[in-house]
Amino acid sequence: MDVYEAMQTLRAVRRLRPDPVPEAVVRRLLAAATWAPSGGNAQPWRVVVVRERALLEALGALYADRWRGYAARHAAAVADASEAVQAAWRRTRGACDHLAAQFASTPALFVFCFAPALMAITDAAQDRPSVVGGASVYPAVQNLLLACRVEGLGCVLTTLLCEEEPRVRDLLAIPDGWYTAAAVPVGYPVGRGHGPLDRRPVEKMAFADRWGAPLR
Ligand SMILES: Cc1cc2nc3c(=O)[nH]c(=O)nc-3n(C[C@H](O)[C@H](O)[C@H](O)COP(=O)(O)O)c2cc1C
Repeated sequence: MDVYEAMQTLRAVRRLRPDPVPEAVVRRLLAAATWAPSGGNAQPWRVVVVRERALLEALGALYADRWRGYAARHAAAVADASEAVQAAWRRTRGACDHLAAQFASTPALFVFCFAPALMAITDAAQDRPSVVGGASVYPAVQNLLLACRVEGLGCVLTTLLCEEEPRVRDLLAIPDGWYTAAAVPVGYPVGRGHGPLDRRPVEKMAFADRWGAPLR
């Protein structure tokens, strides 16, 4: 599979079989993550690969709690939306409910952590939320997702556990100065797994020379 096919079919897969992911495969996923770029090549991230059942149960309880809150808010937000939007939400919700309910059976949960002190956060002084620090972490996460795709593994980038960061740090013995950026459940898919994406076309996303000017 070439990289374009991998990217074009890398959708969120939330229904995972409990079968373990072989250690050699886990190592290849991690190697892919380490190949990502980061500011100054500082690689200000680490990843905790969680496979211990008791930890997954504790994290799963936190995740399910946060998911319930998110789902209730989102359901209210789309209550007056079109039938197409509501149908899409129902499909996503089913898969998300499944992930939350089965979280403890996740074969491998990759919890990505970051250290702000190791980052050159060049937009920190701007009068808006800062995003540059994340750009030294999420490319590694995306590399891991792409490697999962090529390995035939399902995966999904999740951030709901960041709302429970203090408890997650305690559970995983994450040291001072390190925080959580994402948790990626990984396993072999229950069904077809990855497949076609629903994304905006290039023409809506990219401009020529100035904002709003169409590409030629
Ligand atoms: C920053 C970020 C946070 C996300 N957080 C969650 C999450 O907490 N739980 C979850 O089930 N999916 C999460 N997702 C997955 C998105 O819902 C998913 O990528 C998006 O809806 C597109 O779905 P698709 O790739 O299947 O088309 C997150 C994705 C991103 C990029």
